[in-house]
Amino acid sequence: MYNVAKIITAAKGLNEIFTDVADIIPSGWQWPEKTSCRIYFDDEIYLSTNFKESIFKQSSSILVNDKPRGKLEIFVSSISSKTSKSKEIFLKEEQKLVDSIARTLSTLINAHHEKNQLNAQLLHADRLSTIGQLAAGITHELSEPIGNILGFAQLVLGSKTLSPENKNDIYKIEKAALYARGIIKKLMTFARQDLGQGKMLDLNTLLNDVVFLFESRCEKEGIVLKIKFDKKSPKIIADGGQIQQVVVNLVVNAIQAMPDGGELLLQSVVNQKEVMIMVKDTGIGMSTDTLQKIFLPFFTTKDINEGTGLGLAVVYGIIQSHKGKINVHSFPGEGSTFEIILPLANL
Ligand SMILES: Nc1ncnc2c1ncn2[C@@H]1O[C@H](COP(=O)(O)OP(=O)(O)OP(=O)(O)O)[C@@H](O)[C@H]1O
Ligand SMILES: [Mg+2]
Repeated sequence: MYNVAKIITAAKGLNEIFTDVADIIPSGWQWPEKTSCRIYFDDEIYLSTNFKESIFKQSSSILVNDKPRGKLEIFVSSISSKTSKSKEIFLKEEQKLVDSIARTLSTLINAHHEKNQLNAQLLHADRLSTIGQLAAGITHELSEPIGNILGFAQLVLGSKTLSPENKNDIYKIEKAALYARGIIKKLMTFARQDLGQGKMLDLNTLLNDVVFLFESRCEKEGIVLKIKFDKKSPKIIADGGQIQQVVVNLVVNAIQAMPDGGELLLQSVVNQKEVMIMVKDTGIGMSTDTLQKIFLPFFTTKDINEGTGLGLAVVYGIIQSHKGKINVHSFPGEGSTFEIILPLANL
């Protein structure tokens, strides 16, 4: 255990820890040369040097957030029957040791995840504000020319002397300009240049409107929609259209993350000062790498026709301008939870 602790303090990443721990474990067992170790974690396998599998085996699960994510296994090979009769193949203390090393690894992984999420959040705030400035500049410069293209295209479309072919071409210009204007609008929201209008709103009514929009789509796609709204009927001062867009974007992402169906929970919880809107799915989940990028404009893992990567950038901009907070929890294969926290209206 002392050597395991030493590895953990010295190592930089989880990979290095698993590799070194697998290698050091045999030296702590009664027959070091005949002992091998194997660690499974997610899709990775770590083996001690000269690994040999055998029928004599001990194992213990590696749990993360109380769910099994891996296994620690010890094997003892080529024991003569004489030796194995005279001695226990595994000592009682050795089983305790496997369990205790597996527990230490579990604690370490939990701490590692928390630290990563914290680092990602700090990095994020900085990077997003720089990108926000860039986006603000771009939207400022492009709004006017795009507005002109659209305006003149619509003017020409009104002309009576236009040939059908030309009309068709101008329609294409209008369509492309409308698309570009839509993107600019989303970028403006991300850069918080599209400040909404605050009004007193009843959150549950707003959430019910979103449910109404998605009920039949969920049913068609084999998704069970669960609703738990706080009975206190929270009131917030906010732009209703924008908050609705936040919830819609989160719900669309959740549905897209469950191509084979699943469960979608939409919940509101109120305390003295704040309200939390939670959108939780049982879909594909996200890796730490993806999680670090989700609020960046144009970051998407979806096909070209399926996503532009602006949904969460818009969510981010809106929540920032409403002085709210966003928390995200997700693991690959375990689904995702988005929590939006907004201040309650002072009644
Ligand atoms: N509920 C979720 N489950 C799994 N991955 C998610 C979820 N929500 C977001 N993501 C990941 O975050 C990325 C960015 O999401 P975002 O909503 O900003 O863009 P998008 O959905 O790809 O495109 P758009 O929203 O513009 O149509 C997604 O491509 C996906 O990889
Ligand atoms: Mg989206």
